[in-house]
Amino acid sequence: MRTKIVAGNWKMNMNFSETKDLINALSAQSQTSDAKVMIAPTYTNLPSAVEALENSSIEVIAQNMHFAENGAYTGEISASMLKSIDISTVILGHSERRAYFNETDADLAKKVSQALANEMAVVFCFGEELEDRKSSQEEAVVKSQLKNALFHLEADDFKHIVLAYEPVWAIGTGETASPEQAQDMHAFIRKTIASKYGDEVADSVSILYGGSVKPGNAQEIFSKPDVDGGLIGGASLKADDFFTIVNAI
Ligand code: 13P
Repeated sequence: MRTKIVAGNWKMNMNFSETKDLINALSAQSQTSDAKVMIAPTYTNLPSAVEALENSSIEVIAQNMHFAENGAYTGEISASMLKSIDISTVILGHSERRAYFNETDADLAKKVSQALANEMAVVFCFGEELEDRKSSQEEAVVKSQLKNALFHLEADDFKHIVLAYEPVWAIGTGETASPEQAQDMHAFIRKTIASKYGDEVADSVSILYGGSVKPGNAQEIFSKPDVDGGLIGGASLKADDFFTIVNAI
């Protein structure tokens, strides 16, 4: 059985005290689903979040990291820095990183390798833009994103990879992929993984959907057979909403 996951990507939101408040509110929620729950606060709040959730099943993860082990990369954060504060999972390839910080598939291939070399797990994000979908190129785009950033990996590495399909046109727009669109793409992603690594790897990798998941639409999206959970932006900033989504799985 694949692991069900609901991860909250807080993006560049929540200062130090807001982070504490939100974590307190999350800790007070009760979980009725068996989903693995993750939250990704911003870098400066990671140590306090780790400490606050030490005895919780909620995992604190990072939003990004650099591809080098260390060195002259002003403003960047390495995998070993994250490991040293007990962060073992990192989000890589988010469309906002690709769009605003020019992250390429080639950069991401290096980041993924660096994370795995540091025994970290990766939530790997990818997804097409609106123009791609309008021109029916969404499958070709997604396939090339997977191929260019992940297909240098060994089959065994996929034990440490979670895929997060996030169509760019659905992120923060209030417009979600329909459950059918999400299912079709997730099935295509699984088929693409199977064609390179075989059915065993494809059937065991968790594929999350991200893009305007809300309490009102989560259950229908999560009910699709190839959707193994969600990567949640805006709705992860409210404890009630986030846990309604966690429990919708
Ligand atoms: P929204 O849920 O705000 O659309 O963001 C999705 C996302 O980008 C998660 O990484």
